[in-house]
Amino acid sequence: MPLIVIVGTQWGDEGKGKVVHSVAQKAQAVVRFGGGANAGHSLELNGKRIVVRLCPSGITTPGVLGLVGPGVVCDPEVLIAELKIAKAAGSRVLLDRDASVVLPLHKLVDAAREKARGSQALGTTKNGIGPAYEDLKARREFRLRDLATEASIRKALKRGNLYIDRAQDVLRGGLLPPSFEELVAWCLQFKELLEYLGDSRAVVEEMLDRGDVVVAEGAQGFGLDEDNGTRPCCTSSSSVPAGFSKSFGIYRFSSVIGIAKAYGTRVGEGIMPTLVDNEWSQRMQDLGQERGSVTGRVRRVGAIDLPYLEFACRRGGITHLVITKLDLLTGDKIPVCDGYLYKNTGMRVEKFTTLTTEVLESVDPQITEMDGWSEPIGHCRRYEEMPQQAQAYLRLIETSTGVPIMGVGVGPDRDAIIWRDSLSLALSKPEG
Ligand code: IMP
Ligand code: MG
Repeated sequence: MPLIVIVGTQWGDEGKGKVVHSVAQKAQAVVRFGGGANAGHSLELNGKRIVVRLCPSGITTPGVLGLVGPGVVCDPEVLIAELKIAKAAGSRVLLDRDASVVLPLHKLVDAAREKARGSQALGTTKNGIGPAYEDLKARREFRLRDLATEASIRKALKRGNLYIDRAQDVLRGGLLPPSFEELVAWCLQFKELLEYLGDSRAVVEEMLDRGDVVVAEGAQGFGLDEDNGTRPCCTSSSSVPAGFSKSFGIYRFSSVIGIAKAYGTRVGEGIMPTLVDNEWSQRMQDLGQERGSVTGRVRRVGAIDLPYLEFACRRGGITHLVITKLDLLTGDKIPVCDGYLYKNTGMRVEKFTTLTTEVLESVDPQITEMDGWSEPIGHCRRYEEMPQQAQAYLRLIETSTGVPIMGVGVGPDRDAIIWRDSLSLALSKPEG
């Protein structure tokens, strides 16, 4: 019954897509459990870059069942585009009938609010994610199953005064909402999604009972989690392993794989203590193509934040780490944040116990430079083939977090990944 959860441990964009794609080769199903089209999981397949935003990245693997869970907020236009990716790849898709639909109204409210926030904007992706989740919390979400007939569409738009409230929000924000009839017509365009609807919770449980390998793919990352992230600059869903359990009601994880990029990045607004702005960070930005895969915004680059990573691993129950983009660090000294000092006392922070924006504002990062290596490592397929210094860097991550590294990404291609103890480690049942 292996249920493997894969989550980001930083601020999203850790390269989860590529890792999920690789792990999916051994899985029967891959599940997206949170977020919406704010995510962009990109991977290179035969030299072509594919970005998957709503369906799990596993849909690029032939034969795999890709599930979109009930806690996902879905942009139907994006779903239709991704069904085509799945069809071309030879995978199957099942969309939970209870998953929410992001309506054009939600996107307009998101945009109007960001505008109204002015200099305090959160830097959202303007995909309507926050407002769609508000309606889920308010128990008046428009669900995929509501797309079934004109009657169910009309009923859902009136549930809890949904249309009227949201249209008023849009107007108050100085934008023009679609009329009720225009919105009904918009909803009627997506009939082709209906044949993909089902009960993803029941399917996952049945597959686990049967002994299938199911991978739960998190979106965003620990620092963007609605509860544990750097509020208010975070997303509106749960990007930690609990996010899966919350909507699926299934708790039996066999392993929790955390993905961490070899250096830090953050897109949108929000604190990033280990930010570096020099030649090195610019090179990382260029070589790593550090631009948001959904919004095209440039990602800030910084040193790897080991205390934050330790916290995310501890709280997230991470059992294995995969480090991505290590190849980009070739050729220079490497900045590393290995500690924090309290601003008011100068004392060293031993261990973070919470990591809110306020906590991070009250401390100063200690960034040191570590010797790097000069040889390219993109060709390496075995851990021992990497230069000593690269191995030392990975060892530092392991000792700082107390979590073993099971894989290392060394290039953009899907095969450019070193599986250290083979996947079997994470795919096997926990001992005891
Ligand atoms: P929202 O999720 O569009 O509401 O955006 C809220 C915050 O989360 C913003 O700072 C976004 O840049 C960030 N964010 C949302 N999704 C992702 C992602 O997949 N990768 C990186 N940042 C994201
Ligand atoms: Mg991304």
